[in-house]
Amino acid sequence: MQNSPGVHKGFDYTRTNNPTRKILEKLITKLEYGFGSLAFSSGLASIEATIKLLKYNDEIIAVDDIYGGTFRLLNLYEKFGIRTHYVDMTILDKLISLISKLKNPKLIWIESPTNPTLKVSDIKKICEISKKINNNILIVVDNTFSSPVIQNPIKLGADIVIHSATKYLSGHSDVLAGLVTVKNINLYEKLKYIQNSTGGILSPMDCWLTIRGCQTLFLRMKKQSYNAYKIARFLEKKKDTVIKTVYYPGLSSNKNYLIALKQQKYFGGIISFSLYKNTIYNAKKFVSSTRIFKLAESLGGTKSLICHPATMTHKSTPPNIRKKVGIEDSLIRLSIGIENVEDLINDLNDSLSNFSL
Ligand SMILES: Cc1ncc(COP(=O)(O)O)c(C=O)c1O
Repeated sequence: MQNSPGVHKGFDYTRTNNPTRKILEKLITKLEYGFGSLAFSSGLASIEATIKLLKYNDEIIAVDDIYGGTFRLLNLYEKFGIRTHYVDMTILDKLISLISKLKNPKLIWIESPTNPTLKVSDIKKICEISKKINNNILIVVDNTFSSPVIQNPIKLGADIVIHSATKYLSGHSDVLAGLVTVKNINLYEKLKYIQNSTGGILSPMDCWLTIRGCQTLFLRMKKQSYNAYKIARFLEKKKDTVIKTVYYPGLSSNKNYLIALKQQKYFGGIISFSLYKNTIYNAKKFVSSTRIFKLAESLGGTKSLICHPATMTHKSTPPNIRKKVGIEDSLIRLSIGIENVEDLINDLNDSLSNFSL
């Protein structure tokens, strides 16, 4: 209803504005210390809206072991003249030389920790260095793995923060949602225009579920990080027998441990590990054998999940690239839930001892 033609009472059409969506957008803006936020129908919809800030001939620099769905999307954008170059962002010299070499670098895409090898990049340093070379480069951080409880990229110098709110923010594996938070009005207005023009908004019901999920976000992240640390320590003890490598930023043996210690409030709920006998067959056998860890693609919910990236989340990443960025055939990813940690360890222990991997 409108007061008079063209004069509405605050909300004219749900694609443009909606009261429940507004509450969620305000909430994530506060949590991420931004200027404003926009809620989309999925994490990938929020990522695509952000890429639409670019134009023909612009170039993106992205973290090399990027989430498979983002890789597929960036690939799709090649045909619209937006090229992506991948680099290991934990090696700053490689990033600096790439920025300096490119003609039109417009956007840097960071995931930290990465999915699934959990590499941690120094977000603050990347922002400082890149802006020094080219102040117009936009820095985007996909903060899905950390949530605002663990790190706040805008505080570290980023321009845009993305969340697949499908994961930790909603927290119960029953919502598909994406959020973009920006640091200034200029970016907000551009993205608001894109959101309204393309229409991939989050429905009021899913906004409400995400708002409700955020009420327990802090408690969940704390417990999931606690459980994950204990499980990572357990897996590390199995190294050189059935397990080859354990990837968890909270282990002091991890090569990015010191950056994680400085940058993150907790180490997060995701662990990856590879098997000594590095075959897809062995990995499939293992991920199909656990009882509490359920075999599923998603992550960040209250219940523990297990996944085989090479045949599940990262099957759209070509095998040669998977190999290059460390996604081995036997790599297994765990999303740790809030269950009793002893039960989770026993489940993994049973599977590890029942199989001659
Ligand atoms: C790091 C990361 N970013 C983005 C996405 C995409 O989010 P959605 O599945 O909500 O579209 C995912 C999905 O797994 C992810 O892991």
